[in-house]
Amino acid sequence: MKQMPIRIIVAVLVFAIGFAAHTSEARAQTSPATGKYVITKLTSTKIALPFGERVFKGGKWAKVTNTRCLMCHSMGMVTQQPPLTPAAWTKEVQKMRTVYGCPMRDDQVDGVAQFIFKETHHGH
Ligand code: HEC
Repeated sequence: MKQMPIRIIVAVLVFAIGFAAHTSEARAQTSPATGKYVITKLTSTKIALPFGERVFKGGKWAKVTNTRCLMCHSMGMVTQQPPLTPAAWTKEVQKMRTVYGCPMRDDQVDGVAQFIFKETHHGH
């Protein structure tokens, strides 16, 4: 739980540094005559972000949860929480949709919430 925000901060820093480097590169290509940007070449850089590699396993709902919930943060953000009830997970999933914009269909909310509840309650 403590670990994840640090990883996210590191990821943001890596991105910001990369962005700053790109920006100064673009400035070097400003046309002296017009003062306008002259984009001569676009490049794509592959950056390995320190993102969790673990995913949920176990059929259809694992797949939905992986694709919908792990696009912004790692699995640890989901699993390293205090024990929540199924209703509380439904609320949390709804919050991810409405507050943070998680793209998920309405009819997937309960399935994902139930799945996460089961995944995080081993023998409780
Ligand atoms: C569009 C991006 C995005 C998606 C998709 C997303 N989340 Fe999140 N989630 C966030 C952000 C941003 C935070 C807050 C991070 C922080 O506080 O460091 C967060 C935090 C959380 C937390 C920590 C408790 C809290 O409420 O802050 C949990 C649990 C969580 N998400 C679960 C999920 C689940 C389950 C899904 C899939 C239904 C999901 N997230 C999908 C962006 C997203």
